[in-house]
Amino acid sequence: MKKKINNNFKFNKQNILKAKSIIAKYPKKFQISATIPLLHLVQVQLDGWISKSSIEYISKFLKIPLIRVYEVAGFYHMFNLKKVGNNCIHVCTTTSCWLRGSNLILKEFEKNLKIKVGETTNDNLVTLKEIECLGACINAPVVKINNNFCENLKLKDVKNLINKLTSRKKVLINKNA
Ligand code: FES
Repeated sequence: MKKKINNNFKFNKQNILKAKSIIAKYPKKFQISATIPLLHLVQVQLDGWISKSSIEYISKFLKIPLIRVYEVAGFYHMFNLKKVGNNCIHVCTTTSCWLRGSNLILKEFEKNLKIKVGETTNDNLVTLKEIECLGACINAPVVKINNNFCENLKLKDVKNLINKLTSRKKVLINKNA
């Protein structure tokens, strides 16, 4: 099912409470530091992405210039500035993962999902993305599916992961997928 675009973003009641408690952790002059956790809240509320109107909302919410929120949202790979599918697969292609075959894993995902990196499947099930180091190099190659890390991946694991997503099974942290 396609997700609706929200052109007039507001935190829901639950997230307003969460946002206020996040902001309260920072001294009054440094509430700009709450930008990242608030963007995470937005991304959860919007099912995986951050809209233009939500960036404007955070700017007003924190009383900071719009550009400051754009800078953060645009810098970090974990924030999606475009709509994504119901699941987001991030394949790490930085050095350690690349040396352990992540480029082949990325191709295997492309082949099995019948999409190129950056694209979303027609049924909106998966968006495939490339990502910089996920900080789990010791278990390279690493793929992040939604918020879960799949580590020490082998080519043969790719189909199994896609099957789990297709059958809507939760993909859990899996060190030896
Ligand atoms: Fe892939 Fe660090 S290089 S997790």
